[in-house]
Amino acid sequence: MQLRHLQYFVAVAQERSFTRAAARLHVAQPPLSRQVQQLEQELGVTLIARGTRPAVLTEEGRVLYEQAVQILDRVEEMRATMRRMTQGRRNVFGIGFVGSTLYGNLPGIIRAYRAARPGVELILLELTTLEQVMALKEGRIDVGFGRIAFDDPDITRQLLRNERMVAALPSHHPLLATPGALSLASLCAEPLIAYPKSPRPSYADQVLALFRERGLKPAALLEVRELQTALGLVAADAGFALVPASVERLRRDNVTYRALDEPLALSPIFMAHRRADTSPEIALVTELIRDTYCRDGTASPLLQT
Ligand code: BEZ
Repeated sequence: MQLRHLQYFVAVAQERSFTRAAARLHVAQPPLSRQVQQLEQELGVTLIARGTRPAVLTEEGRVLYEQAVQILDRVEEMRATMRRMTQGRRNVFGIGFVGSTLYGNLPGIIRAYRAARPGVELILLELTTLEQVMALKEGRIDVGFGRIAFDDPDITRQLLRNERMVAALPSHHPLLATPGALSLASLCAEPLIAYPKSPRPSYADQVLALFRERGLKPAALLEVRELQTALGLVAADAGFALVPASVERLRRDNVTYRALDEPLALSPIFMAHRRADTSPEIALVTELIRDTYCRDGTASPLLQT
């Protein structure tokens, strides 16, 4: 059995048509059909019910499809790793990050990495947490920093720290007239401005869950694409937003940040890398983050390992 047999079979299964699969693979239909037949003969099973349109998988076909997809994904990952290793020799290191990590420790860590590896070309890509998973597998980045917990057998995810959330309110808001941390319940009289609207799940879902899990509902929900838009709308008196505490560095007219009296209003920061990547670069980045946390006295699971 050759990889091509699996590729052709998977294409027919996904397109549910020999004609469309042939077009997708840029091959003629007769050789495509022959490859699928050869696979069936070798395995001694029928994979695709004949004479049906669209092409329907048999029970054996469905089982083989699940496994074939995994094998092809694995092969693609292997290719990506080899590509990265070749690039590694060209001294390239890719970092993916969600925008809000730039308000935290990421810029300092990037500076420290540059200082430690002056000859390495850094590729910096702003990507959602889920886009980072794909980019890691494709070898476009080597490490990703995001805020969403995900599970993928090929990716190692490490919690770096849990960051407090704070409320961003219009500066003249009556809730700010008295000092002290704000309750989530007191904020519910106002519209919640949540970001990013898509893709989901996202940081917006962490914020929404915080209210939902306490049986609370803000007066209205306004979903926007980015943090900057959310803060702009806060400045325009359109409501409040919950943002990671490091965003307080982002000063804006008519936006005031205030702590929350809710200890579980936390947004995690995760580091992700390919499980198979045992290069010294991952160890170096981890060490730089550890140093930063040690210096700042930041509580982190990294400091317990
Ligand atoms: C942090 O803010 O702690 C952080 C953000 C991105 C990468 C590493 C650390």
